[in-house]
Amino acid sequence: MTSKKTVKGESSKIIYENATKTITGGVSRNTIYRKPYPFYVESAKGSYVTDIDGTVRTDFANNMASLIHGHAHPEIVSAVTEQIQKGTAYTMGTEAEVRHAELLVSRSPNFEKIRFMNSGTEAVMTMIKASRAYTGKPMIAKAEGAYHGTYDYAEISQTASPDKWGDIDRPNKVPVVQGTPQGAMNDVIIFPYNDIARTIRLLDENADKIACVILDLVSHRVGLFPANEEYVKAVYNWTRKNNTLFVLDEVVTFRVNYGGAQHDYPVVPDLTALGKIIGGGFPIGAVTGKSEIMEVLDPTKKVLRHPHSGTFSANPVSMTAGRVAMELYDDKAVKDLNALTMTARKQIEEVIKLADVPVTLTGAGSMFRFHFRENAPTTYRETYQNAQERELITEFLDYLFCKEDLIMINTLACMFATSMVQKDVDKLTDGVFNAFKLLKPKFDNL
Ligand SMILES: Cc1ncc(COP(=O)(O)O)c(C=O)c1O
Repeated sequence: MTSKKTVKGESSKIIYENATKTITGGVSRNTIYRKPYPFYVESAKGSYVTDIDGTVRTDFANNMASLIHGHAHPEIVSAVTEQIQKGTAYTMGTEAEVRHAELLVSRSPNFEKIRFMNSGTEAVMTMIKASRAYTGKPMIAKAEGAYHGTYDYAEISQTASPDKWGDIDRPNKVPVVQGTPQGAMNDVIIFPYNDIARTIRLLDENADKIACVILDLVSHRVGLFPANEEYVKAVYNWTRKNNTLFVLDEVVTFRVNYGGAQHDYPVVPDLTALGKIIGGGFPIGAVTGKSEIMEVLDPTKKVLRHPHSGTFSANPVSMTAGRVAMELYDDKAVKDLNALTMTARKQIEEVIKLADVPVTLTGAGSMFRFHFRENAPTTYRETYQNAQERELITEFLDYLFCKEDLIMINTLACMFATSMVQKDVDKLTDGVFNAFKLLKPKFDNL
């Protein structure tokens, strides 16, 4: 379908009606669903996405934080085009994999060896299974509210709500999917993020059974605020004393620094899961870390403790796109992008004051998140959006999407890309200012 300027959403409505006839709920990915129907894309370039009715929007979601250079970066397009003409996947290796591996491990001394897979979910799953294989222990510990993809164990309590989350001293294990086996829940410990005393007490209770403690240093769903250094050190030291692996989910946060968010903390993770931006716009996941631990995945060893494959793992398209994207995202690019994002945060904080609305921002590096509350949250339970807040958030996002032509993640997060310039920041600032003014009576009633 060619791009034409028609009534906003008109063509998308028709496509969605067709979609529901064959695709359950009309979408294969709930993230893109919006009421009353999702919008469909015609094309995208840099920071701008054109839908099939010809409306151009500035994109601050960047496919859920995965497009660090925005859409269709010319150097990535050119490298991928050259690769796909030579084939897209083989039952043999490619040098593209080796080149991407070399580049990634060169970015942090903590990345001694690496393995690729196809998604962040798979990376976290492999990291957890490798931890079990290495330690011989069955349990994992994770933070309440933290999103680590959809592996059974990793997703427990990801969406815990007040009616289910229980006492903060011992948060309940809340399944996301109906039918999650009790056995999976039994092997997970849920701790409150950034709460040293409670976390350590909960870990102590199961010290001899925990294979790994998994942390995201700036967990999006917990609230997108950086973990306290003291907290991270306490958890890290606990793992050192208890023969437990300290593993990081940097699927989102790798963008924060040249060597990932971990660069800012005095810890050496045993393993790190990567994904999103390292695929240059194509599906990817990776596990990286200490050679001695990564060895559980090594097929040349006499005893292979964790066999690992994957039909499309390390396919040359993701490897090529990812390598070019990461070459472009060098130390200077990281710093420039973080600086532009900080400018945006400052501008938005100004308009929050001007509009006099109870809104705060949290974030790190090239990402931030709005919270419709007076003070920045410091825990998942404070971040939790109740029904009234959710209603206002939906109105706010709908207004931005339909009237200001701005795309944001539905948690109210913005993920910047190197394609962005000051003009885009100003558009975002003006758009949210207009939304605050329009919805002020509703903000005042929160
Ligand atoms: C922190 C974190 N870990 C893991 C994942 C899973 O990644 P994927 O969607 O590629 O499976 C996500 C996805 O949003 C994430 O935000």
